Amino acid sequence: MDSFLISGGHRLKGSVEISGSKNSALPIMAACLMAEGKTTLKGIPRLLDIDSMNKLLGMLGCDVVRHEPAEGAGGDGPALNGPLDITVVDENRCEAPYEIVKTMRASICVLGPVLAKRKKAIVSIPGGCAIGDRPVDLHVRGLQKLGAEFHTENGNIIGEVRGRLKGCRMYLGGAQGPTVLGTINVMCAATLAEGQTVLVGAACEPEVVDCANLLNKMGAKITGHGTPEVQIEGVESLKGCEHRVIPDRIECGTFMIAAAITNGELELKHCNLDHLVAVADRLEEVGVNICRENGTIRVSSARRLNPVEMTTQPYPGFPTDLQAQLMALLCLADGISVVTERIFPDRFLHVGELNRMGGRVRKEGATAVVQGVRELQGANVMASDLRASAALVLAGLVAKGTTRIDRVYHIDRGYEKIEQKLVAVGAQIERINEKAWG
Ligand code: EPU
Repeated sequence: MDSFLISGGHRLKGSVEISGSKNSALPIMAACLMAEGKTTLKGIPRLLDIDSMNKLLGMLGCDVVRHEPAEGAGGDGPALNGPLDITVVDENRCEAPYEIVKTMRASICVLGPVLAKRKKAIVSIPGGCAIGDRPVDLHVRGLQKLGAEFHTENGNIIGEVRGRLKGCRMYLGGAQGPTVLGTINVMCAATLAEGQTVLVGAACEPEVVDCANLLNKMGAKITGHGTPEVQIEGVESLKGCEHRVIPDRIECGTFMIAAAITNGELELKHCNLDHLVAVADRLEEVGVNICRENGTIRVSSARRLNPVEMTTQPYPGFPTDLQAQLMALLCLADGISVVTERIFPDRFLHVGELNRMGGRVRKEGATAVVQGVRELQGANVMASDLRASAALVLAGLVAKGTTRIDRVYHIDRGYEKIEQKLVAVGAQIERINEKAWG
């Protein structure tokens, strides 16, 4: 298992290219299970979770080919990743087994597409994870309303459709509000249902919009995506198309905070500030300067950081996926900040680790009270989940001395080449292998 060694205290300065969105790419790749012919996806980042989805699509009878980038190609994100072609070659397979679902919860994205197209789906039930229980009841309820029948057996959800799914009007929200992947799963299935489906209480995240745009290119008839009410007119079939995924707004937000926490100056390329309005609002309140030029964002920070109140909310509110990273920044603000988590109330595993680095964060239920300190100190800390790990990297960049972060495979699941990108703008960060460490 790899670890990061970060020597803190270096101002970041320079330019970073933001990758394509992981959370857009995963459900979009799953949606390709419904298309006839080849779909070509561009901007797909190279990440562990993408490798897992490739493997799952292979198990489900897809031919998945990652091309090398074209020689001299420019403007395709940081790694100049070549396109990914996905073609369904065998429609008889319909199982997402535990061995893959346990490594990536987003495997649940295949449920709607496989069920709608192949009439049967067996998906291992994703267990809880470091950020909470994460049930999938809303996915199943939505698909049931379209006429699918479900039962569970030996840890698997087994869904079956007799004939064709039937469109209807349904409410899709739950106790914590809308569900992103649940909306996408039901929206995908509804594209091949008979008649009209209306999803009320749908998630409005840009990743839902991106998937709807892909489906429409494939021949689906979806309107209202990006609003809480999505209408889908069912069609007989979908065909392969070409699509570029949106920039990763969470990676972009993480680098905005990296600029702020190191009192640095970063230019972020290939990103969309329109997807980060709530994040920019909170950062500006903290004292961060953000300026937009074409597809580029320039971020720099004042020396004094103001404390703020922040509550995570469904889009367009502040994203839960940036809560931990903002908390790392607020650890160094001049006063008391209050951070409330409304999406995953237990998503606070980073609190203990930030406190080991000298932070003063007290958790009370789904709220954390952050008393700003003058400095953080390097320590040996443990990555627990993707975004908590990113928060520890940010803290390490500014901490006095050396920070060692163990289990960085969590980061590799969702941040493409994070250490190369950081080193290129002045960070001192080294990846070490546990064996080499001794
Ligand atoms: N929920 C239910 N029942 C369901 C589904 C969700 O009660 O059937 C609850 C969840 O427990 C949570 C809330 O609804 O309290 C919202 O969860 P949501 O379904 O929106 O989460 P998700 O779709 O499973 C995606 C991202 C997460 C991100 C959340 C919220 C992907 C692959 N995952 O998960 O990303 O935190 O939306 O924005 O897109 C990450 O990238 O680190 C990550 C965890």
